[in-house]
Amino acid sequence: MLINNDTIIKDDNPLLRTKSNDIPLPACKQDMELATTMMTYVKESIDPKLAEEKNLRPAVGISAIQVGIPKKITAIRIVMEEDENGDPTDVVELLWANAKIIKRSVQKAYLDMGEGCLSVTDEHPGHIQRAMRITVHAYDLTTDQWIDYKASGYLAICIQHELDHFNGVLFYDHINPNDPMAVDENAICIS
Ligand code: CO
Repeated sequence: MLINNDTIIKDDNPLLRTKSNDIPLPACKQDMELATTMMTYVKESIDPKLAEEKNLRPAVGISAIQVGIPKKITAIRIVMEEDENGDPTDVVELLWANAKIIKRSVQKAYLDMGEGCLSVTDEHPGHIQRAMRITVHAYDLTTDQWIDYKASGYLAICIQHELDHFNGVLFYDHINPNDPMAVDENAICIS
């Protein structure tokens, strides 16, 4: 399957709003190929040359429904640290199936710049408050085992964004239409 900015479905397509299903585990060959292709997308998308050549929009995550497949598969890849040459020294790669958030902190956090999504082309200015800390129960497709994964801050926000896709939810659904920039008094701003 080819994933690029033309094959990724956008929010004018009602399919994006459907709920995704658990996949049978361990994953079959077809589901593994899909997951691997999704991870390759996010990895290549932040390389300006490859992005240009292959028509990729930069992203830190993608979920299967975004290519029209209602399966609970997500690929997240975040460069946490890089050296002075811009080469990554710390990368978090999460390739998960059937993931579910089992714990959320009361403490909220939001990204100063708002969120973006491969399936959303219009601007939706606003703050999206999410849990600052989460625990996820997921099947790790890289190691073929169930894990409980704790995350906080930016990483936790990215995970919550991707897992929302499993429920057909988009980031701007969380924006308060009457006051898009409104946040809780004690919410942590991540810039
Ligand atoms: Co998205």
